[in-house]
Amino acid sequence: RTVYLNGSFVPEGDATVSIFDRGLLFADAVYEVCSVLDGRIIDQQAHLARLERSLAEMAIAHDVAATDWASVLATLIERNGLSEGTIYMQVSRGAADRDFLFPAPGTPATVFAFTQPRALVANPMAERGMRIITRPDRRWGRRDIKTVQLLYASMMKMEAKAAGVDDVWLAEGDVITEGTSQNVCIITPQGHLVTRDLGHHILPGVTRLSLIKIARASGITIEERPFTIAEAQGAAEAFVTSASLFVMPVVEIDGLKVGDGLPGIETMALRAAYIDHAR
Ligand code: PDD
Repeated sequence: RTVYLNGSFVPEGDATVSIFDRGLLFADAVYEVCSVLDGRIIDQQAHLARLERSLAEMAIAHDVAATDWASVLATLIERNGLSEGTIYMQVSRGAADRDFLFPAPGTPATVFAFTQPRALVANPMAERGMRIITRPDRRWGRRDIKTVQLLYASMMKMEAKAAGVDDVWLAEGDVITEGTSQNVCIITPQGHLVTRDLGHHILPGVTRLSLIKIARASGITIEERPFTIAEAQGAAEAFVTSASLFVMPVVEIDGLKVGDGLPGIETMALRAAYIDHAR
């Protein structure tokens, strides 16, 4: 695989970073994951805009425009022959001798990106639906910034695996925030689409926003507000959104079936509409 690192395209085995990189020592880095379908990136501008916002919120003085991301991504897609999969991009505050204080201005950021081929449209999970469990949201309080502090999410995914389910929804008290790596939506018995309102408690998902626009255009009423685990369990349908899962039905929450326990009809229609938008 060819990867991108600090201005060069190199074989992955040649891409090395300093042990003093703040991404390694302090999780002092932000990232993006975007999907590629038919060789084209979905919602590229929105992902780059969020990367810029994450950098600004972290006060990482690196201009996203310093990297010609459009050409970096296009080159990675071409060199790796990627037709369907994801691209990961990361920017860290750079390398400096270990100190909690940020390094001197002018320390160059570490910038890299790599591709991962995977089947996104023909994901078998879309046919059976996801089974999830809920766990307390013990991440930090700025989940709106896409940092690489993913240990809690990683531990929760391992808990899901140990419990024999697909993933975890995180909750503050009994109010759901988001999935470990997805935003969450439910469809009420009245047919309204409910998704958590934005703020510091969740990531402003690019897929979430595209989906809201698609749903609104098709006449669905959108409610951006908190909802409880019990409301989700009693919903007509439930699903998650993310760059890599698109719109993915959720059929079971903490052992209780959502609706009839099958992927929701409205959810699958939204998934199809999202794939149309992506193409
Ligand atoms: N995760 N919430 C969290 C905590 C996430 O990590 C993600 C994305 C989302 C969905 O955002 P978007 O629709 O922009 O992908 C919500 C990516 C896919 C990941 O970490 O692999």
